[in-house]
Amino acid sequence: MKIVVLQGSPNKNGSTHILTEAFTKGAEEAGHQVRRFDLTDYKVNPCTGCVACGYEGPCVQKDDNQKVRKAVLDADMIVFATPLYYYGMSAQLKIVIDRFCAYNSSITRKHMKSALLTVAWNSDNWTFDALESHYKTLVKYLDFEDQGMVLGRGCGSPSMTRNSGYPEKAYELGRQL
Ligand SMILES: Cc1cc2nc3c(=O)[nH]c(=O)nc-3n(C[C@H](O)[C@H](O)[C@H](O)COP(=O)(O)O)c2cc1C
Repeated sequence: MKIVVLQGSPNKNGSTHILTEAFTKGAEEAGHQVRRFDLTDYKVNPCTGCVACGYEGPCVQKDDNQKVRKAVLDADMIVFATPLYYYGMSAQLKIVIDRFCAYNSSITRKHMKSALLTVAWNSDNWTFDALESHYKTLVKYLDFEDQGMVLGRGCGSPSMTRNSGYPEKAYELGRQL
């Protein structure tokens, strides 16, 4: 299967990246094709809400989101990878999801698979409540088939993350697809 990873951390060698790499290793070993978008490298503007797309059509903004859109619609699975920023996803990832607006039905029709990879400094058991709830709502709304979540509590730096069990969990998630 074709998997697109939307990687929303600006730190290319950071903790989100560590989970992404581990997931990718597992998924590739299982025979899947993984394409990663480090969203910080792509110039994607926020949705302006003009709705010229009519919620399904060309977007008036001709920016790098055209590449993301093409890859998402060519894929079977989307992996959302993000650091926890103020108890939600990073702006880089949220902007790309908001731009789904112009191809919403195309995504829904595909019944894609999905997963969430995330890391945070905090390690309280409520750390990911808001993000988890948001992700599960997206799964319902976009008719995804959830393949799992890796919620990396206490992953505030790359060394903390490497020394946690979360990279292994991300690897296993990819491997069992
Ligand atoms: C702008 C910003 C907001 C953050 N918000 C939170 C937060 O709400 N809760 C938390 O536990 N950690 C928070 N963190 C910490 C990061 O989630 C954590 O350090 C993570 O490992 C960063 O991942 P990265 O290495 O991929 O950038 C925040 C960090 C930044 C820079």
